[in-house]
Amino acid sequence: MELVTRTTDVRQLHPFFVGEVTGTDLRALDEHGIDEIRSMMDRYAVLVVREQPFADAEQVEFARRLGGGEIVTKVGRSVIDHAARLTEPGMTDISNLDENQQIIARDDRRRMYSLGNRLWHTDSSFQNPIARYSMLSAKEVPSAGGETEYADMRAAYDALPAALKAEIEELRAFHSIIYSRSTIGFTDFSDAERAQFPGAEQPLVRVHPGSGRTSVYLASHASHVIGWPVPEGRILLRELMALATLPQFVYRRTWRTGDFVIWDNRCTMHRGLPFDEATQRRDLRRVTTVDVAPTAVRV
Ligand code: OGA
Ligand code: MN
Repeated sequence: MELVTRTTDVRQLHPFFVGEVTGTDLRALDEHGIDEIRSMMDRYAVLVVREQPFADAEQVEFARRLGGGEIVTKVGRSVIDHAARLTEPGMTDISNLDENQQIIARDDRRRMYSLGNRLWHTDSSFQNPIARYSMLSAKEVPSAGGETEYADMRAAYDALPAALKAEIEELRAFHSIIYSRSTIGFTDFSDAERAQFPGAEQPLVRVHPGSGRTSVYLASHASHVIGWPVPEGRILLRELMALATLPQFVYRRTWRTGDFVIWDNRCTMHRGLPFDEATQRRDLRRVTTVDVAPTAVRV
């Protein structure tokens, strides 16, 4: 399908979601152009914009304009990485590189922590307010592997059997990054780090204020269902995760240098795929905005 807007051209890359924008420099958009990007985000949930030569500070500035709110700072590797390769405030390092631009060792704690990004998740679901938009800029990409997959939680909700929709309608789940990391055997958090991440309750079903669409709201951070016995809730969450990430709801992005991808954390999940980290460099840089106006729960 083809849609033409005033400043940009958009092509839909997946039957349910993901728009690809060409012919625009996001740094040069006026307020109307930024509004157009917001409407495209409401519709496509993920936007791929090719050939964006953002400097780090420009990427943070773009996020500030788009999100209208604060930039999330204590997320991703920066939580545990005190060496900080990237110095721009608000920039999260999603690379496999250290402060000397060298590939991080296989058993480095920063790598262990970052491996959590291989699990399906949505950013900052373990915090309140959650993340609204995350945006990744691809500076260096592996020659094979290291793709990012996105799942459309609106389409997943639409496809749920009516009885399951009714069952989860009022439920809330507890999200914790300490929990999600523990499922892959990363338990090496200090008391101070644990104290930073008490976790958060989130509704299992949300209505997106921009599109009016209903979505499941899931992540590997979701530990249990509030008010349910833990094993019972965890089984339900696993079943929902499996349904929400069926191949028909998933788009896989093979990165090219210069790609800029924006996703809406309120209605999509994502995960990174493996690559040969011993020999390949992958330098992606992320900025994330806070969901300033709380996402509406079912009205
Ligand atoms: C992120 C993330 C996955 C990847 O940037 O938030 O989860 O493919 N990235 O690196
Ligand atoms: Mn993420």
